[in-house]
Amino acid sequence: MPKNERRRFLQLSGIVALAGCSSQPGAKVDEEKLPSALGKPIRAYGERSQFETAKRAVPDLKRPQIGSTRTPLAETEGIITPSSLHFERHHAGVPDLDPAKHTLLLHGLVERSLVFTVADLKRLPSASHIYFVECAGNSGGEWKAPGGPNVAASFGLASCSEWTGVPLKILLEEAGVKPAGKWLVAEGADACKMSRSLPIEKALEDCLVAYAQNGEAIRPEQGYPLRLVVPGYEGNVNVKWLRQIKIVDQPNQTKDETSKYTDLLADGTARQFTFVMDAKSVITYPSGGQKLGGPGFQEIRGLAWSGRGVIEKVEVSTDGGKTWTKAALQEPRLPKAFTRFRLPWKWDGTETEITARAVDSAGYTQPSREELTEARGANSQYHYNGVKMWKIGADGSVKNA
Ligand code: CO
Repeated sequence: MPKNERRRFLQLSGIVALAGCSSQPGAKVDEEKLPSALGKPIRAYGERSQFETAKRAVPDLKRPQIGSTRTPLAETEGIITPSSLHFERHHAGVPDLDPAKHTLLLHGLVERSLVFTVADLKRLPSASHIYFVECAGNSGGEWKAPGGPNVAASFGLASCSEWTGVPLKILLEEAGVKPAGKWLVAEGADACKMSRSLPIEKALEDCLVAYAQNGEAIRPEQGYPLRLVVPGYEGNVNVKWLRQIKIVDQPNQTKDETSKYTDLLADGTARQFTFVMDAKSVITYPSGGQKLGGPGFQEIRGLAWSGRGVIEKVEVSTDGGKTWTKAALQEPRLPKAFTRFRLPWKWDGTETEITARAVDSAGYTQPSREELTEARGANSQYHYNGVKMWKIGADGSVKNA
């Protein structure tokens, strides 16, 4: 055990009492009275316990096909988001596609146009990687004011899964990209034909044509049967229900990259093709809407991620940003994936503010709200990655600060 971890461990002895757990040393317990129940019949496809209630935040929509659902990040553990809780953003509902009929067309500036069935793609060399997907609009409500009352509302358009599929590089090499082919346009099979342009370098670097998520077929809401996975880039370019990739010489200026997903700056100009999601973190416990049971031991927990690589460091402040302490990072730390951080803390029962900031392997530090808005203004709806403060009241209640 490294020295600093051993010190942390020693600091934590007596932790059960510190956390207020009801432990009675030496108390006699009747083993026969420990919980036991007759089991239900075995079933073919699993469901969670009836007592579990975590669910996506679903807004009341006038047009139920268009909108977002948010991951309850404060109710997930580790780094993997259950597929059933992965956030969604829909522009035209969820198509119900038959994988026996679905195809992927690869054409444009290539030597050979190719059409792949889903079965074809599954025969090709495969790869699995854990990557986050984050909507460019995640935390968009935080630009003007620290608005989100809880983690789902303020940071819930981000999730992390293991994705399995064919490296896009293999398909592009098979088709033979012509020298003039500098970009691609990826298009979905939803009714609005959601489509985005991507530089060819990124396609050759690490994109996947994915057919599986967390060990099973991608769910319909996530793009069944095929989804383009573009690691570290804004969620919108991870095109769901992928039906064609066209190689082109310049970006296509699709409606989804002109009317949306551009960042309006303070001087009235806009940034476009801002693909990479910058380093970000949020404390998920204690966080807005929760209530601490009382003074004593608390494990501060949260998530950090960066589209530029791995998370190198997360610092936590429990005094409103005056002093900072390094949190422990869950290993392995994977590039462009969620990283779980943890920090033992003894809450003294007084009102305070807590926050976290992440540093990634590119040397980038997550900015404060002031630093971010000074650089970008507050006009944008996209790419907000400022630190998030939670206020803990003397009664243990946790609120947005
Ligand atoms: Co962008």
